[in-house]
Amino acid sequence: MNIEVTINGESRSIETEGHRRLLDVLREELGLVGTKEGCGEGECGACTVLMDGEPVNSCLVPVGQIQGTQLTTIEGMAGSDGLHIIQDTLVRYGGAQCGICTPGVALCAKWAVEKEPGASKERLRELLAGNICRCTGYQAIVDAVVAAQNSSESSHE
Ligand code: FES
Ligand code: FES
Repeated sequence: MNIEVTINGESRSIETEGHRRLLDVLREELGLVGTKEGCGEGECGACTVLMDGEPVNSCLVPVGQIQGTQLTTIEGMAGSDGLHIIQDTLVRYGGAQCGICTPGVALCAKWAVEKEPGASKERLRELLAGNICRCTGYQAIVDAVVAAQNSSESSHE
């Protein structure tokens, strides 16, 4: 089938079988290898992308379902003026950890901060609960997201 989709602000036309996993099409057809596979079963969040602004596990999404949507992958998170504030604080606070979970964490954190500006640390932990880290833990990630949130708030004052 032919799929028309906007990925990271760019219109794309993809000819592929609609049952393939979005994760595989991103990585194998489009070269967007920043999207990672962890569990492959919808449990870990490593494969998170934003579809029409909402996080989805791309390992569970048949690519036929992306017809006409707007996707953001980690490759589209930085702007022409540099890293997104979430990426910047993840680096500065040591929250960019193994490289498998980080792209999904960054995208989910972007969604969380935009969805609930001013969310408490506890609430941010809940919003990020779908993104599992199997090694280092969550403290640095949450600290980074709080710092990004505070920085966004102060830039709007
Ligand atoms: S790889 Fe998709 S949720 Fe784990
Ligand atoms: S799984 Fe990525 S830092 Fe733990």
